[in-house]
This record gives sequence, C-alpha cells and structure tokens, in this order.
Amino acid sequence: MPDTLPERHTGAGRRHADDVAAAPMVRNEALAWQICLALARERTQQRFEHGGYGLDRHGMLEPGRPGSSATLVEYDARGWHASGVWSAGAQALFDLYLNFSAGPLEQTQAVGHLGQSIDGHIATHNGDARYVSAPQDLIHLHRMRALCDAVIVGASTVAADDPRLTTRLVSGDHPVRVIIDPGLRLAPTHRVFSDGEAPTLVVCDPQRTDPGRSPVGREQTLCVPSSNGRLDLPALMAQLRERGLALLFVEGGGSTVSRFVEAGCLDRLQIAVAPLIIGEGRRGLRLPGSELISDCARPPYRLFKLGNDVLWDFDLRAGHRQSANDADQPGPVRLA
Ligand SMILES: NC(=O)c1ccc[n+]([C@@H]2O[C@H](COP(=O)([O-])OP(=O)(O)OC[C@H]3O[C@@H](n4cnc5c(N)ncnc54)[C@H](OP(=O)(O)O)[C@@H]3O)[C@@H](O)[C@H]2O)c1
Repeated sequence: MPDTLPERHTGAGRRHADDVAAAPMVRNEALAWQICLALARERTQQRFEHGGYGLDRHGMLEPGRPGSSATLVEYDARGWHASGVWSAGAQALFDLYLNFSAGPLEQTQAVGHLGQSIDGHIATHNGDARYVSAPQDLIHLHRMRALCDAVIVGASTVAADDPRLTTRLVSGDHPVRVIIDPGLRLAPTHRVFSDGEAPTLVVCDPQRTDPGRSPVGREQTLCVPSSNGRLDLPALMAQLRERGLALLFVEGGGSTVSRFVEAGCLDRLQIAVAPLIIGEGRRGLRLPGSELISDCARPPYRLFKLGNDVLWDFDLRAGHRQSANDADQPGPVRLA
C-alpha cells in the first residue's frame, strides 16, 4: 500500500490563486494509517498527556500545538480524534482503528474477528474458507494484525489454511503468531513454524502432551492449564502480557473465537458478513443458548462497509444490552 504525502486540494482550474492558497489541506488515508500504527506501537510504552500530536520523521507520535498544521490528532477526555481536514476514507479509518488501541496502558485489549456468510458459516463443511470475505476485509485483517502485538488462531485453522498471518498487504510490522494447539497435533512443516517471517508461539496443554515435542522449541511454548478440555484463557493472556504482548487479535476459527467470547476475554468482536450462502458448513460463533430472546445479548455496535461485506464491530465491554431504542430508528435506509 503506498504511503504517500498528504494530498492538497488544488481546486478547479479556473479558481483564483488566493482561493487555492486558502483551500484546506486534506489529509489522506495513508497518513491516517501511519498515525494509527504509531499510536498502537507506542500505546504499551507510554501514557499520553492531553493535547495535540503529530508524527516525527521516524513515524513516532510527537507533541504539537492543538490546531497547528503539524498536529494530526488530539487526545482528550473523549479519547483520540482527528485534527484538521481529512478525506472521507481517512475519517473512516480513524473511526475503525484510532481508539481501538487507546485503552489503559496496563490492560490487555483483545479483539476477535470472523468473516462469515449470511447463514453464519466461516467455511464449507470440508474447511474451505478461501475466500468467504471481500478483498477489503482481507486488508482489514492485515491492518488489525499490524496494529496488534499478537495474532491468535486455533489448530484447525492452521491445519486447514496453512496461513502466514503476516501484514504483507499493508505497511506495519508482523505480529507475533500464537497458535493454540493443546495436543501439539500440527506438523512442523506448516508455514507459521517454518517460514521465519515472524516469531511464533505455540500454546499447549501440559495435561495432554509433552511440551518438549513442540515444533517451536520449549522456550517459545506456553503451557496453559485446562479444565474439561478448555484452556484457561485469562491465564494464557497473562502469559502473553508477561512477554509484552498486550494487544491481541483473535482471528479464528469459530471455535477459538467462541471460547474467547464465552470466557469474557474479548473487548471487541468484529463479524464481517458477506453476501454469500454456504449452506451446511463450519459454524462461526457457537455459544450456549438462552430460553428467551429477551435474555440474549445485544451488544452496542458500529457498522462499516468493506466492499460488499458489512462489518459489525461490537463493543463487548459496554454491557450486554444495546442502549439505543430500536423504535426511534428511521425506517428503511438503503445501504447498497
Ligand atoms: N472466515 C473466517 O473468518 C475464518 C477464520 C479462520 C479460520 N477459518 C476456517 O475455520 C475453520 C477452522 O475453524 P474451527 O472453528 O473448526 O477451529 P479453530 O478455531 O481454528 O481451532 C479449534 C481448535 O483449536 C484448539 N483450541 C482453540 N481454542 C481452544 C481453547 N480455548 N481450549 C482448548 N482448545 C482450543 C482446539 O484444538 P484441538 O482440536 O487439538 O483440541 C480446537 O479444536 C477452517 O476451515 C478455516 O479455514 C475461517
């Protein structure tokens, strides 16, 4: 993805030169992305003062006067927000990414994501998932990886997709790859273990296997206790935190994301719904049910369009009931 300098609105050819000079600088998506990256990178290292921030020549956040042309974002009691005039694409990018990593310094933040069909499946019955989601969602996944310290997937995802879990479609560092393979059933030939593109940690259950068998060696293997075959996810998150991994992206599959949701370990849950019908397939979320709809969770959400897909970005920390009264919403609104 090109990281270009901010664009300037030069106006139509016949406008007076003074008008052109007075036209506001419109800052673009590439610059917005650089700020989101800088913020995620620096969040775990420093506490920010309220005020304006720009970027230094190394792409790190530096203080700037609020309202000055060097100030790109501001931080106050509402959190982080953009300063100055930004393109619509840049504004949407800030909406989606700017505050996601702005939680308290000492707290782990975890976001889960699933790309699913309209009938709730993330792959066909034999595990084919390429590609459920739109290309724009793939870029979103790579951006989330770049913003996070670690990307987490379950053993069945590695077995089915042999993913690389890198950030090759965007600028930004690769995250540490964390593979949950309680019984160490995966072959060492999978790319996450053999390509050397980014560090890989393996999570195993010492009650089920000998950690010495791990394809990444004993040092890079986390032993996490379990009960009834389920790993203690808070204990896993604490071990990741001890290694400096505080922003976590749980990328799948359905079983892994579901267990994080059930354990109350996710701050946000992102579900990208594609206009696709899979029929009998691998389920996305699988959670215990309720007798009554009124007992079911309706977490607050934000909606983004990613190509033909719709991304539901749920806030799982804001309580289970959606505060907005549905009856107050307008009638049909055409989205596409
Ligand atoms: N569309 C998407 O967004 C998306 C994303 C990723 C993957 N996929 C697709 O989804 C399919 C895989 O998903 P899946 O739901 O079948 O499996 P999965 O979540 O990838 O892996 C599940 C396995 O990981 C281990 N595991 C994960 N969390 C655990 C926990 N808390 N405690 C104990 N064990 C845990 C268990 O391994 P053991 O079985 O060894 O006990 C479990 O069976 C593949 O077809 C893949 O292509 C789709």
